[in-house]
Order: sequence, then structure tokens, then C-alpha cells
Amino acid sequence: MDRNDRERIRHPPGLRGRDIGLFYRNLSKRKRPRPDEPTIRLGPCVSVPQAVLARVEEKLYRFAQSCEDEKVLKDFEAQFRHLLFADFEDFIVTSKSSSYELLDNEFQNQRYKSDALLKERDPQFQRRYEQRMNLPAMKQHDRILEAIKENQVLLIVGSTGCGKTTQVPQLILDDYIFNNRGSQCHVVCTQPRRISAVTVAERVAYERCEHLGTSVGYQIRLESEMPRDSGSILYCTTGVLLQKLQSDPLMNAVSIVIIDEIHERSVETDLLMALLKIILPHRPNLKIILMSATVSEEEFSAYFNNCYTINIEGTMFPVKVNYLEDIIQETGFTRFHNNPHECNKNKARHRSKQSNRQSTNNLEYSAMIEPYLRQIKDKYDNQVLQSLRCTDSEGCENLQFLEHLIFYICDTKPPGAILVFLPGYDNISKLNSVLLNPTLPIGQRYARKIQVYPLHSMMPTVFQKNVFQSPPPGIRKVILSTTVAETSVTIDDVVYVINSGRMKTNNYNVEANLQTLEEAWVTKANTKQRKGRAGRVQPGICYNLFSRAREKTMLDQIVPEILRSKLESTILNMKMLHVKDVGYFFNTLISPPNQQAVTNGINLLKRINALDVEGTLTPLGMHLARLPVDPPIGKMLVMGALFRCLDPITSVAAGLSFKSPFFTPLGKEREVDRVKRHLSANQRSDHLLIDNVVLSYRESREDSSERDFCYKNFLNIGILQQLEDMKRQFASLLRASSFTDSSNCNAQSSNENSKNITLLRAIIAAGLYPNMAFLSKVRRTKNHVNAIHHLCTPEERRVNFHPSSVNSHEASFDSHYFVYFQKQKSSSVYILDATMVFPMALIIFGDGVETGYTEKNIFYISVARTYFFKCDPATAKVVLELRKRLEWLMQKRALNPSPILPNSSEDYIIKAIQILLSLDDVYDYSDQYLSSDEEQQ
Ligand code: CDP
Ligand code: MG
Repeated sequence: MDRNDRERIRHPPGLRGRDIGLFYRNLSKRKRPRPDEPTIRLGPCVSVPQAVLARVEEKLYRFAQSCEDEKVLKDFEAQFRHLLFADFEDFIVTSKSSSYELLDNEFQNQRYKSDALLKERDPQFQRRYEQRMNLPAMKQHDRILEAIKENQVLLIVGSTGCGKTTQVPQLILDDYIFNNRGSQCHVVCTQPRRISAVTVAERVAYERCEHLGTSVGYQIRLESEMPRDSGSILYCTTGVLLQKLQSDPLMNAVSIVIIDEIHERSVETDLLMALLKIILPHRPNLKIILMSATVSEEEFSAYFNNCYTINIEGTMFPVKVNYLEDIIQETGFTRFHNNPHECNKNKARHRSKQSNRQSTNNLEYSAMIEPYLRQIKDKYDNQVLQSLRCTDSEGCENLQFLEHLIFYICDTKPPGAILVFLPGYDNISKLNSVLLNPTLPIGQRYARKIQVYPLHSMMPTVFQKNVFQSPPPGIRKVILSTTVAETSVTIDDVVYVINSGRMKTNNYNVEANLQTLEEAWVTKANTKQRKGRAGRVQPGICYNLFSRAREKTMLDQIVPEILRSKLESTILNMKMLHVKDVGYFFNTLISPPNQQAVTNGINLLKRINALDVEGTLTPLGMHLARLPVDPPIGKMLVMGALFRCLDPITSVAAGLSFKSPFFTPLGKEREVDRVKRHLSANQRSDHLLIDNVVLSYRESREDSSERDFCYKNFLNIGILQQLEDMKRQFASLLRASSFTDSSNCNAQSSNENSKNITLLRAIIAAGLYPNMAFLSKVRRTKNHVNAIHHLCTPEERRVNFHPSSVNSHEASFDSHYFVYFQKQKSSSVYILDATMVFPMALIIFGDGVETGYTEKNIFYISVARTYFFKCDPATAKVVLELRKRLEWLMQKRALNPSPILPNSSEDYIIKAIQILLSLDDVYDYSDQYLSSDEEQQ
């Protein structure tokens, strides 16, 4: 590199507007250098001693000798590009005659029919059939079949529970069978959630007096009970059907596709609808049925060219709705605390940022509630009005109120199950423990007369099935659920619904490129659905834990998920379907996402090499699309396999894809921090912490002390078991794509480097890059318990470690560079999880690595034009060479996956990397950072 390289310096990617101008202004000052004002802030020196460089060069030389088959690689690449050449439409045309096609088979037709006739005489079947006949969908039997015959696309709208999901597929199948065409019928019905695919399939098998796997089955990711190929119904998640399109894009194996619950507007159903529109003209025999609850159905019909619509009138029983004011009036509960008036009195005393925010919230709350209170003051007791003034009266913040209401229903209302809608896992778990150990006297009387069922998509499917069974006599069922019980799970005996009015929603801030998961008020459409759940078997009551004034502020219906999500995974999946121009394709969706969101997604995929510069899928991208995790985590897994440190890396990936196994009982935050610090073994990594936890948990299982271990360390044993499950899945997927030679993540051959912590950090960095952060200063607080971190990312000038991160309490770090997976904005921008990494790892695995001279003539090597490290040219040359070889190796392995064997020529590159990284253990970088005192001056 010569000095001319300086001319190529461009502004760091994160800068905007005025900052860009300032950057170039500073740059131009190089002509009149001012020694006291450097424009490039140099990080620590990464020069490598000559003797070590020589060893690295020797490894590279030996590796280079094996690169002679570069031509072979080119051939691979050509094949791969050919595969990508066709666009989705060309791709489906070329697959028109496929081996999947359903052929007419007279023998099968007859067999299916005689089986069905036989079954009709079975008294058990007859009893179940009679029950089915009560469902509104069955009453429309002929109309539905007629409409399917007449139309290629049909929209069926009906309130939840009217029998759409369970009956419509059966109607179709039986019609084929009785018309001697059973062999040509395969109905696929998509479900938005795993749990509903399984339970609905079981229900239908029960109604048909069969076991799963005959004419009815289900398929969810990594779990299936497949029905026969023809004369059958398959319930699958929408994601599974999208996956199937990769091998059978015209859906030749399917005669009828039913997309259920389209009103939920999940990314998958929106995509599937757009793809079906392309497929339809090429498959004149394919029938498509869209099913929706009664929410904005006109929009769907319009999207499919004003397709024919059938409305199924439900036979719902009336449901009485009580709003918060009515509930407080009726139950007499008044122990609310957060009265803004009281808070305002104390305002002068607490002037912290938090109390400022609190008082803004209070003001907003008062602005909403006060005018309403004036309206209703003659209708309700003064105590009710006072209670409504407290912000914790609405929603589910006040657990005691919920407890009181549930037991009040037990005490005063006739039998019937209670369904409580809560926002998330934590609320469910807290209320669950309160109900098991009630605090109120009324609760203690009824605690043994209730059976509580927590229902959450993260709980294992087996466990959730019990919720459909009737409770023993005298026992009342209380179901604590998220939105999952709103439409996709129907529990028959519900008579009382308690709607907290809160739910968790994903949001995506396009400008900041930030994903958030926030609790928010539900929409009016959600409330309507929730209410409906109470009137299924008899007249019911719905308790809304919010006032009528609050309801007025709610949105009418949910914002489509695709407008609230990062698009990386979606883009990759579309690329796998040969969608060349994703930007164009997204514009054909029912709600096209923001252009900037698409650009952000494509840019990230390019930076991690999942797409090439032109935006074409790379072989690595193809592997990432096949792994059921976010692309960066997928990359980490592939690297972990290639670098033979699979066990720890699968632990990290499982922890990031699922959730942390730690739980924090109220008031025990300090103790949990202490436990985490202990388990993190000073590694300054939330990711390695998960690995340590998994290892210790395994050890504890050896002497059967795992329960004790989990209890002492605030670990959720269920989550740990699920993490182990996921690790197994990852290992078998990596085995299936030949990156490893064993499907066991503990296999010796996959773990030769698993103890090399520096390498593990680097592999984590390779996956999470470009999510980097830099700590410019750290100070202990006076009490010596906490630390104040001056942390920034290329995008934000100030971020913080989340208080739950092990790094948030640390004040000394061997390196000031971090990688992270999740950044979240709440009160400020938090990095939820972080791993300290050394500069060399960023230089080897990062992108946009360049060299140049500072204005003081110091040679540097930089990463992403963001972090600059002092470096001697000899080191830079070797490192750049290494990067080139590594890229080559990655490409080759992605095209032709196989494990890198120890002592093979390719292993030299791993060895070379290890030599460079191992210096981090020896060097002490920490004295090269500015000390906080220097900075302050
Ligand atoms: O799809 P839709 O909401 O219109 O109704 P469904 O899911 O087909 O449910 C129709 C009826 O089947 C419900 O009212 C329940 O009585 C019953 N069902 C059940 O018992 N168990 C299930 N897993 C699903 C449905
Ligand atoms: Mg349904």
C-alpha cells in the first residue's frame, strides 16, 4: 500500500448530513496538519513480531500450494450461478412436469371410498359427525363445495370457532373421495403457529376416528406426522409450505392450498399470497382458499382480483363486555398505587431522568382519562373514578387486581373456564405463581379449586395439549395465554375472558435500523376476537382491563408484520425461490415494505457475504437460508463447524435464537447478577456465559444434581433442555449439509478447538459482525458496584450495555471492542448481549479492511472505515493475504461443504489464524487505550 491510498478514504458508513461534511473538512486539514488534532483516532497497535509473522507466512505458503485447484472452484461457481439464473417465473415453468404430480389411480380411488363408506357405519364416527354438523361451516357444506368448483380462488370469512380450519379441508377431501377421485386430492392447509398445526391435525384425526398419519397429518419445522401422499390433508406451518416451494414451486403435489388466518398478516402468509398469484396461471387445476376471521376481508378479496367470498355466519352466544370502570365498580377492588396526582406532588424531590419520563407518561394518561371521568362521573362511584386515575389500574401491571378478579369470578359466577390474555411469557409466569400461591384471602379459599394452564408458543407442544381436556368436576380451568388463543387455538369451555389489552409486538425502526420488541396496547380487532372467545358454548362475559377512553386510542387493526420486521431472512428465503429482484417482488405484496428496509436488509446480507456485490445469492447465503436461524447466527454456526468448535458455538447460537436461560425473581436482581458474573468466569461475554452455563448444567446432570444447580443459579431447567434440543437440531442440520462429519455437537472431531477462548470470541465476532461497539471510557461509580461505560457503535454515539449483560458491571476490559447481536431502544439504546473481542479478530473476519497513513504518517489497518489500528506494513501485508485465502476457503467450502480435517492443507489457514489470534492472549492491549483520566482532561 502506498500513500496514495489515503485519497480513497471515505466517510464512515454511519455518518449523516452535517457530520459527513465535518468528516471531510477534517480530512482536508491533513494538508495543514495540526499535530494536536488527529482526524483518525488510532486504536491499539496490532503489529505482529517478525518471528511470528514468519510462522504465519509459512502456513499460508503451505495452504497456497493446495489452492491450485482454483479452476475446479470456478466450475462450481458457474454451476451455482446457472442455478440462480432463472427468475421465479422461469423457474416454475421449467418445473412444470414434475415427479410430484398427483396421478389418477383407480385402485386407490376405490380403496379410499370403501374405507369411507365403512367408517360411516361406525357409531363412534356417527356421534362425532353429528357434533360436527352443529358447526356453522358444516351448515354451508354445499355452498362451499359449489364455490370451490366454480372458482380458482375463494375467500372464506367467518368468526373464530365456526369450523373453518377443521371442517373445510374435510369437506373437500370427502367430496373427492365420494366422487371416486380420492387419489387426486391432497389438501394442504397452512397455520400461522406450530401449536395450531399440531392440535388441529389431532382434532381432525379424532373426528375421522383415525390416528394421525393416515388421511390427516401435520408438518412443522423439524417435527412431522405425515399423512399419505394422496387422499389426504396436511396441516403445516406457513413457513413449511414456503420451504416446500423450493423443491416443488408449482405445488404439483397439491390439489388445494388453504391459507388460514390470513388476517393475522404474518410475513409468511403475505409472501405466500404473492407467490400464489404468480403460480396460479401456470396451474389451472390448483385451487386456492383463503380463510380469515372477520377482519378487513375486503382487502384480501381485492388483492385477488375481487375473488368470490363466502361469509359463514357464526352462531355465537351473546357476550357481555365489562370495561375497567365496570369491573372496579363490580368487584370493589381499589388497591391501585400509581396516582399521577400523588406523583406530581413528589416531583420536586425526584428529578431524575426516569421520573421525568414517568411524569410525561402520567401527563398523557391524565389527558386521556380526565375528560372521560368528567363524562361518567354521575354513573360510577367516586372510588371508581379515583381508581381510574391510577395508571396501574389498566393493563396487567397490578397483579393483585388480576388475582382478585380471577378469584372473584370463581366466587360469584357459574362454572366455566376463564381465559386470561396477557402480553408475554413473564406476565404469564408471574401470574401463574401468584395463582398457585395466592396472596389474598379469597384466593386461598379457591386456590385448590382451579387448574392453571399457561399457554405460550415457547412452551413445548406436548405440554400444551392438556389445555383442551375438561377439568375434573368442581375444578375451574384458568388459561393464561398470549395472543395464541385469540384465533388459532380454540378452547371450547371458555365462558369468561379477561383481556389485559396488552400484547408484545415487534417493531422495526427503519431509519435507525433497529428491531424492537415492545409491549403495547392491542388493536380493536384483537379485542373483538378476544371477546368472541367467551361466547362459544353459552353466553359469556368479557372483562376488558382498560377503560372505554383507552379503547378509543387503540388502532383498528394490526400493522402487517412485514412492515414491522427486518427483512434479511425474508430476502434470503425469496432468493432461494429464484426471486431475482426482491425489491420488485416486495412491491407486489399486499402491503409492500418500506424501500429503505429492503435496502438495509440487502446491505447486511452483502456485508456478511450471503449476497454478492450484485445482490445475487452466494453459496454461503444458500446455506444460511437453509438454517432456521437469523443469517448472522447461521454464519456463526457454519464458522463454528469449519473451525471445529461446534459445541460452544451451537450453545451460543441456541441462546441467541431462543432466549436466556436465566430468570430474575423480583427483588433478586443483585443475586442473579452475582451468579452470572461467577458463571461468566471473567470472560466479558454474554455469549460465552451461555456456553459456560450449558457445560455446568451438563456436569450437574452427571451426578443428578441438575435441579439443585438450576435452582441455585436462577436457571430455568425447561429452557436449558430446549437449548440442548436446539443444539442437537443445529448439529444435525450442519451434518446434513456436510459441514461436519457427525450429527453430535459433542463429537471430538467437531470440537478440537472448543477450549480456545480467543478463537471462540473470533468466531462469535465472525457471526455477529458488523454489529460492533467500542468502549471509549469506563469508570467505576463511587459505590464500586456499578460502572459507567462510554460505549458507541458506528451508528450511535452513545449506547449502554443492558443491565442484564455481564459486562454492565465490569470496569476493566482487556480489549475495548465488542460485538453484539441485539440492540434495543427503550429508555435509551441498549446492547442486550455483548462479547469482548480483540482487534485481530475484527481485522481477520470483518469487511472493508483497508490500510493507509494517518496525517501523522502512521501506518494503519482499518475495519469498515470505522476502527483504525496502528500496524506495521509487514503485518498488514500478511493479514491481507490471509483474508484473501480465508475468503477463498469459505467460498470453496460453501460450494462444496465438508469438514476441514486436522492437518489437511486447508487446516493451515485455521492454524495461521490461530497463531495471529493467540497473540491477543499475550499482548496487553488495555494499557493502549486512553485511560479515563486522560479523556476527561
Ligand atoms: O377455524 P375456525 O376458527 O373457524 O374453527 P375451528 O378451528 O375449525 O374449530 C371448530 C370447532 O372445532 C371448535 O369450535 C372446537 O369445538 C373444535 N376444536 C377442538 O375441539 N379442538 C381443536 N384443536 C380445534 C377445534
Ligand atoms: Mg381456524
